[in-house]
Amino acid sequence: MKTLRSVKGMHDILPVDMPRWHFVEATYRNLVERFGFSEIRTPILEPLDLFVRGIGETTDIVEKEMYAFTDKGGEHLGLRPEGTASAIRAFIQHNVGATEPRTKWYYLGPMFRRERPAKGRYRQFFQAGAEVIGVGEPAVDAEIIDMAVAFIVSLGIEDVVVKLNTLGDSETRPAYRSALKAYLEAYKEDLCTDCLRRLETNPLRVLDCKIPACGEIAAKAPSVHDFLSRDARAHFEDLCALLDHCKTPYDVAPQMVRGLDYYSRTIFEIHVNSHSLGAQSAVLGGGRYDGLVKQLGGRDTPAIGFSFGIERLLMMLPQGTAIDAAPLFFVAGVGDGGLTRALDIARQLREQGTRAEISFAGGSLRSQLKRAHRLGAQVTIIAGEEEFDRGAVAWRNMEDGMQEEILLGDLMARVEANQ
Ligand code: HAM
Repeated sequence: MKTLRSVKGMHDILPVDMPRWHFVEATYRNLVERFGFSEIRTPILEPLDLFVRGIGETTDIVEKEMYAFTDKGGEHLGLRPEGTASAIRAFIQHNVGATEPRTKWYYLGPMFRRERPAKGRYRQFFQAGAEVIGVGEPAVDAEIIDMAVAFIVSLGIEDVVVKLNTLGDSETRPAYRSALKAYLEAYKEDLCTDCLRRLETNPLRVLDCKIPACGEIAAKAPSVHDFLSRDARAHFEDLCALLDHCKTPYDVAPQMVRGLDYYSRTIFEIHVNSHSLGAQSAVLGGGRYDGLVKQLGGRDTPAIGFSFGIERLLMMLPQGTAIDAAPLFFVAGVGDGGLTRALDIARQLREQGTRAEISFAGGSLRSQLKRAHRLGAQVTIIAGEEEFDRGAVAWRNMEDGMQEEILLGDLMARVEANQ
């Protein structure tokens, strides 16, 4: 029989890798909670229309990469490819704006895009993100970029580059769109078939095309900076001044667009100079999406956020990042009644919040010590019959093999001191 394997581009995360995941996740939670963000969890499946309307019908994500299907009840559903659209759906559905006009949410979970799998690009990947809904001032753009940088730096990742741009506002867009279209019309012969279509439906998407020939044309396209409304320009300039004040380094990338249609004004990406990711070097992306709440049926509400792929960050973690796992105690019960002695001590340890393992099969001290080594225990507590009757156990340091006898009455205090 053919062995079943996980779906292409979707991976198991084995326990051996979990400490690194937990490290990134805990660092993120800890940081964003200090900035006043609360966690939201939304379903993995959503009405397909949420992503079509939210992310944009002509984006690659919706056009090519969605896991979309009709369920047995005839509903059109989609596996979420990102978290922003769902967060905004929830914000509107629960009328959060009425009680919490400045909403700060963060999230973490699996996302799905049917992309061509490559290093750092998967079909199921984990994203964590943060969204601020209800604040339009550039100060929040600066704070969110600062928070994103602080997070990545706190993981010990160096060589971080913030790429920053603006896409202008609703006043900027029509003029820029016409100018861009007029420019691209001249290259009709050279554009790929997708871009020929994009030229009619959404010319901005041509700037995002991954085909090199289209990239060359895009690089010389008119810049949105020449079409910014006064308001959009002031917003961008204020943001740059605030980032300068915070000494947050950034590079303005005038040709940068992002792959989702909901953006307006500020957009940014964080890249890390690294050999391990090559072309996939954006570890984090985000921006303002002031029109999305209204577009999805809510009140006109500004918003901004970012998200990052956890797998990509894990690839960037410096070698030897100290991931502290709580120390493990092994309890070896030897001789008659050894198993019950081990069970009792292990239970006490666990009640006190300590990680403890025992050998279910009992066996010789030698074989139990071998198992303790394999599990990576720092200490083995040996509960032999004779010592136990005297009210004592042996404390064995697994690193140097040193062993000493200690009184049962002192055991828990000693364990605590070794946490
Ligand atoms: P995005 O740029 O599409 O933005 O994705 C953000 C990050 O998710 C990327 O920088 C990358 O690290 C990771 N990522 C994306 N696709 C994959 C993949 N196939 N495999 C592995 N990692 C991937 C968004 O999703 C927006 N929702 C960001 C945002 C939040 N904008 C405003 N708020």
